[in-house]
Amino acid sequence: MDLEISGRVAVVTGASAGIGLAVAQEFLANNVAVVIAARDVSRLRAAETALLEQRGAKVASIAVDVSAPDAAELIVDKAIATFGSLDILVNNAGRAHAGGLMSSTEEDWTEMTAVKLTSMRRLCKAAIPHMQKNRWGRIVNMSSIGGIYPNPKLFVSHVLSAAINNLTKSLALEVAKDGILVNAIGIGAVATDNWANNMIPTVRRSRPELAGLSDDEVLSHISAELTPVGRAGSAREIAAIAAFLGSGRNGFVTGDTIEASGGADRFM
Ligand SMILES: NC(=O)c1ccc[n+]([C@@H]2O[C@H](COP(=O)([O-])OP(=O)(O)OC[C@H]3O[C@@H](n4cnc5c(N)ncnc54)[C@H](OP(=O)(O)O)[C@@H]3O)[C@@H](O)[C@H]2O)c1
Repeated sequence: MDLEISGRVAVVTGASAGIGLAVAQEFLANNVAVVIAARDVSRLRAAETALLEQRGAKVASIAVDVSAPDAAELIVDKAIATFGSLDILVNNAGRAHAGGLMSSTEEDWTEMTAVKLTSMRRLCKAAIPHMQKNRWGRIVNMSSIGGIYPNPKLFVSHVLSAAINNLTKSLALEVAKDGILVNAIGIGAVATDNWANNMIPTVRRSRPELAGLSDDEVLSHISAELTPVGRAGSAREIAAIAAFLGSGRNGFVTGDTIEASGGADRFM
């Protein structure tokens, strides 16, 4: 399917790995210039180098922590300075925080809120004037299935996901008149480093029966429990949805959170 975004410019945060990197690949395959952002410089440069191997790829990178107060301006300025406009914003940077209310600290809450929610608000605010100028824009916010189907073992992440869904709806209503569509993806269990780094250590502590399994086997086990399709999703499967929502082929979906969870969103 031609996504009708050839020649457009996208920013994808958290695009040095996992879902963000897969989203950048989808855009490049559709002749979109992409600015990728993440913190770790060597991983970011490696991702940029790999992306530039795609034929005709236009890629720029910026090493930045999205939770920094000036990050949104820096990222948007990079897109404008390098490619001259900004049409598509994918707010993807972040991670999960495993644990309930009682085990989470003040610092966990403050840090996760800054990375997932405050950065999203600032990036939308910085990007929208450029989209308004062209009377065209697409914003895709990475949320989680916990926004509508909370798991108390992921308290902080899932409270923030509900806020992201609400931000998405409210902003979509505000900017619909400007030709800007804003959507979120309610991601379920997707196999990326996020699991190994942020969730599997906590799962192991509470599930001693999984001790003999590798990280991949623990993820398979948990995914089979959580997910009706019986497996974790792939970054590529999420990227395909993000690419559609961020494209010209999407003209009529806005304010929605598309649940991509292998059937784990059990509510109607
Ligand atoms: N995988 C899942 O099952 C799942 C489920 C629900 C929601 N999600 C959400 O989907 C998004 C992508 O997750 P993923 O699974 O692809 O994770 P991942 O493989 O761990 O990749 C995360 C990316 O975000 C970057 N990042 C993290 N914190 C950042 C910060 N403060 N500033 C800038 N960049 C930052 C990382 O690079 P650096 O570390 O170098 O900065 C990396 O590029 C996240 O927001 C996550 O919460 C994932």
